Amino acid sequence: MSDALESGDKVEVQWKGTTFSGMFISKDEKITVIKLQNGYNLSLENVSISSINLISKYSPKNVVRGNMTGKGKHVFLLGTGGTIASYVDYETGAVKPARTAQEMLYAQPDLARVASVDAEIILNILSEDMKKSDWINIAKKVFEKINQKEGVVITHGTDTLSFTSSALSFLIENPEAPIVITASQRSPDRPSSDAFFNLTGAVKVAQSDLGEVGVVMHSSTSDDILDIHSGVRLRKMHSSRRDAFKSVNSEPIGTVDGNLDIHWKKYEKVNGKPTKLYDKISEKVGLLYFYPGLSEEIFNKFAETNDGIILAGTGLGHISNRFLSQVKDYTDDGKIIGITTQCLYGEVNLEVYTTGRNMLDAGVIPLHDMLPEVAYTKLSFLLGNFDHDTARNLLAKNLRGELSERRTE
Ligand code: DGL
Repeated sequence: MSDALESGDKVEVQWKGTTFSGMFISKDEKITVIKLQNGYNLSLENVSISSINLISKYSPKNVVRGNMTGKGKHVFLLGTGGTIASYVDYETGAVKPARTAQEMLYAQPDLARVASVDAEIILNILSEDMKKSDWINIAKKVFEKINQKEGVVITHGTDTLSFTSSALSFLIENPEAPIVITASQRSPDRPSSDAFFNLTGAVKVAQSDLGEVGVVMHSSTSDDILDIHSGVRLRKMHSSRRDAFKSVNSEPIGTVDGNLDIHWKKYEKVNGKPTKLYDKISEKVGLLYFYPGLSEEIFNKFAETNDGIILAGTGLGHISNRFLSQVKDYTDDGKIIGITTQCLYGEVNLEVYTTGRNMLDAGVIPLHDMLPEVAYTKLSFLLGNFDHDTARNLLAKNLRGELSERRTE
C-alpha cells in the first residue's frame, strides 16, 4: 500500500504497537517520514512498521496553512503552482512540487529577512492547466486578504502568468493593498534559479503602496535587478531565459535592485477608494490567431460557440476579406469581435487599408495597443459582469491601463 502513497496523503502508521496519524512525506529503503498534526516530521524505521493505512488521498482542500515569522511588514503568500513552487527534498534529492504551504516556505528561508509570511496553496498546477474558474477562485482569495490591507504575493507558472495577471487586474478594482505575481524560469534546486530573488523582490513590492496588479520578474540575466510590470502590459517573450518577461507597449512600472530597494516609475498607488470584486467571468469568449489558410468552417464553429471573440489579426489588425460576411452576421447578432495585432508592439489601425475599413463596416472593434491575451481576459470579464451593450462600450476604453487610446510613436 505504501508504494502507492504520495506525499500529502493522510495516513495511519502502526509502529511498534503505537498508531501515528499524519501526512505522508516520503519513504526510502530504511525510513518512512510523516508529518504530525503539530507540524513535526516523524521518521520511523521501516523494519518496525507493521502497517501503513491510507486514510485519505492528498487534496488541496487538506492543505495546511503555513507561516514564517521574520522582519518587516506581514505579507500573504498564495501558491498556485509552477516551477517556483518546487523544492528539494533533501532526503531523496528529488525536486518536488511543494504540496503544503510549509514546504513552500521551507524552500525560501530568505524570506524571513524581509517579512513575516502566512502562506496557503490553493492550487498546485502547471499554469497551462489554469481555467477561467481558477482566476475567479484566486481573485476571491486575494480580495479577502487585501480587504484586510494585507499585501498578497501569488506564485504562478510562467506560461500563462500574463493571462492571470490581466484577469486579476480586471476582476479586482481599486485594490486596497498590493497584488503581486511572481514565478521562476528555473527551479529552486538549480544554482541559476531565479526563484529566490524574484520571490523576495515580490514580497518587498507587496509591502509597498502599489494599488494595481504588479508582476515581479528578472529584468536581466544577472541577479541584480527585477522589473515590476503592470499586470495588463506584459508578455513572456522567451521560453527559457530568466529575463523572459517584458513590458509591451509600455515601460515597467518600477524596478527592484539587488539591495531590494524599489525604484518606482509611473504606477498606481493605493487610492483609498472602495475595492470591488467582480466574481463572474464568461466562458463564452474565445481567442483566435488568424493565419493564412484558416477555413470559413473553422471560423464558423469557433464563432458559434462564443458570445465574443478576440482576433489576433495580422499587421495593423487584418483578417482575410473572405470572412467579412461571417463577421458581419456575427456582429449583427449582437455578438462582439475585438481586434488586436499579432505584432504585439504598436497598435491596431483599421483605417489604412481597404481590408481594415471593410472590417470596421462589418462591426469589429479595434483595440488599440492592447495585447491579445489582455483583450481576451477583459472581454471574458466584461461579458461575465455586464450586459452586451456595456461590454461593447467598455472593451475599447482604458479601464486598468491596458491600452493607450492614442499613441505618439
Ligand atoms: N509549464 C510551466 C508553467 O507555466 C511550468 C514551469 C513554470 O513555472 O514556468 O506552469
